[in-house]
Amino acid sequence: MPTPNEIEIRGLHKSFGDNEVLRGIDLEVATGEVVCVIGPSGSGKSTLLRCVNLLEEPTRGQVFVGGTEVTDLDVDIDAVRRRIGMVFQQFNLFPHVTVTENLTLPQRRVLGRAKGHAARVARDNLERVGLADKADAYPAQLSGGQQQRVAIARALAMGPEVMLFDEPTSALDPELVGDVLAVMRMLAAEGMTMMVVTHEMSFAREVADRVVFMDEGRIVEEGPAAQVVGEPRHARTRHFLTRILDPAAAEPPGPDAP
Ligand SMILES: Nc1ncnc2c1ncn2[C@@H]1O[C@H](COP(=O)(O)OP(=O)(O)O)[C@@H](O)[C@H]1O
Ligand SMILES: [Mg+2]
Repeated sequence: MPTPNEIEIRGLHKSFGDNEVLRGIDLEVATGEVVCVIGPSGSGKSTLLRCVNLLEEPTRGQVFVGGTEVTDLDVDIDAVRRRIGMVFQQFNLFPHVTVTENLTLPQRRVLGRAKGHAARVARDNLERVGLADKADAYPAQLSGGQQQRVAIARALAMGPEVMLFDEPTSALDPELVGDVLAVMRMLAAEGMTMMVVTHEMSFAREVADRVVFMDEGRIVEEGPAAQVVGEPRHARTRHFLTRILDPAAAEPPGPDAP
């Protein structure tokens, strides 16, 4: 049997008032596939992820997750969201409870798990992200990278089929980025289906099965990471990559330039 697509996006449009932010996105993510989404600021990357888990309501088009059309008006949105983990640039941990409670509270509230069950799942997932020793700490006592790993563990504790990451390392000091990427690399190796918006091109090259370059609400090109990042076909992709990989090289010539 062919691998079913975990995510299917068909003819997706999203407008905010007159601003058409997504202008017809067609994208499939196979089960176990890792797709990195790259593109300039404002190109619609976050809106795309947010349409997949219905944090934004698409204006037009269809989104399927695990074979269920989530854009169907009759769909149980909460049931859909339970199947999709999301990690944001800002970690959004509950500041006034411990790391463990950050993981157990959503399990108990949303999934109705018993206390002991939720605690076991919390411990297992803290171990997975290498933070078993921080179980009783409060978020403010952790580094940004540790907080983001807690946010990932919190999402994993809900047992998602799909993980969406929206620039998960963009708010981190450079020396803390590696630990978060290592956790994401582990998830990819375990076969998690992932959509990752990132500017980490080395991560995209190493981990992504496919890279999608977006600009102005459209997919400009997509393909294996080595091709899109290494030998982009489109001038807009090349321009974007030049700026990302070597910001100085893409500066427009100054007024004194010959
Ligand atoms: N909730 C919203 N209301 C109005 N405009 C929005 C909203 N969210 C995003 N936008 C607009 O949509 C465009 C794309 O934003 P976004 O998806 O965040 O892009 P990216 O993540 O690629 O930087 C931007 O012009 C942004 O101002
Ligand atoms: Mg964004």
